[in-house]
Amino acid sequence: MKSTYFLDSMRAQEKWRVEECINLLPSENAASPQVRALLSSDFGNRYTLPVNAEYAGEYMENSYRGTRITTDVELKAEEVARAVFKCKHACVQPLSGHIAAMISIVATTKRGDTVCALSETDGGYDGYAQSYIPDILGLKASRLPFRPEVWNLDADAAARQIKNERPKLTILGASLILFPYDMEPIKEACESAGSTLIYDGAHVLGLIAGGEFQRPLKEGSEILYGSTHKSFFGPQGGLIVTDSDEMDAAIRRNLTWRVVDNVHWNRVAALGQALLEMSKFGPAYAKQVIKNSKRLGKELSSRGLPIMFEDLGYSESHQLLMDRRELKAIYGLSINDFSVRMEKSNLIIDAVGRLGTCELTRLGFREKDMPELADLFVEAAKGKNVKNRVKALRDKFDMAYRFR
Ligand SMILES: Cc1ncc(COP(=O)(O)O)c(C=O)c1O
Repeated sequence: MKSTYFLDSMRAQEKWRVEECINLLPSENAASPQVRALLSSDFGNRYTLPVNAEYAGEYMENSYRGTRITTDVELKAEEVARAVFKCKHACVQPLSGHIAAMISIVATTKRGDTVCALSETDGGYDGYAQSYIPDILGLKASRLPFRPEVWNLDADAAARQIKNERPKLTILGASLILFPYDMEPIKEACESAGSTLIYDGAHVLGLIAGGEFQRPLKEGSEILYGSTHKSFFGPQGGLIVTDSDEMDAAIRRNLTWRVVDNVHWNRVAALGQALLEMSKFGPAYAKQVIKNSKRLGKELSSRGLPIMFEDLGYSESHQLLMDRRELKAIYGLSINDFSVRMEKSNLIIDAVGRLGTCELTRLGFREKDMPELADLFVEAAKGKNVKNRVKALRDKFDMAYRFR
């Protein structure tokens, strides 16, 4: 292999995915140059014992030297996280959204308990299906009722189910999430059933950070966690926040040597920077993401693309959903083949049918840019290669990685 293979790949990736593509994956975002610099910094080569490691039960001496700055970085990242999420405790140690979920579930259950969450067939996270996290932790998975016609939890039926089933843990949140939940009946049911209510904000963390979508901690969730790289424009990783001293202590007890050891300090420093950026323009960003979703939904729809939930304003999040059956009827393609066709024009979408507006917004796209994007989308959908026009549109946003 050429000694420059990986560096060449990096350049090819940056040229293609950054300069030539328009990314509509809702799981991805663009990080600032500062965040990217921190990711490749010396922090990524160092160890330290995380702050509060003594919660693990016995006092742990930090056996590493040279940790003064690293330790401060963790403390400061937590401080900014507390300010952004207006909460009492924040933990920046989870290596990803999935690990944040593991930590939170380990902290709130024991073997044999039942955990209920939305089914993956209703857009819920696959990790909560029986054969994944529940099997590893010896838990029984149960499914919350859903109303696909409005793409939302059936809150009243879910409340009744929680009262009957009395699961130890109830998880709200999903991978395909368009509208906020009515948490009031769920909170009340969890209180009466002795179920801990937690919110997986993997997808909507950036919206919540900006004060949009919903306020899970204020609406009854004891823990909020999520990925820091989807609607939240940070490095890939996870974050947990809570107002509860008891939950914070339970989380801390399950960090060092249980679910994590080294937590990758370059990621933590980069997350601190992204949190600072969020504290500066998070509210404007989050509002714009939602406006862009609604406008893109309208523009695509008016051009014949089957975007669902027009009567509900298409979306209140960074995601839109295409109707796969309609898509097949119009274009004769499965959603998978459709996404491959779009990639030929450098319009990057997933094979679920979701379209995401978080990265567009981060790059500077506003509602006025949506008609042009929708034109390109529809032409690419018909099988025309519009790569050059996609690049021309992308080029207009030369403030790469910056929200303004
Ligand atoms: C709802 C939900 N929870 C958790 C995760 C896991 O997050 P990560 O990919 O950061 O590990 C995902 C990933 O897509 C998700 O959609």
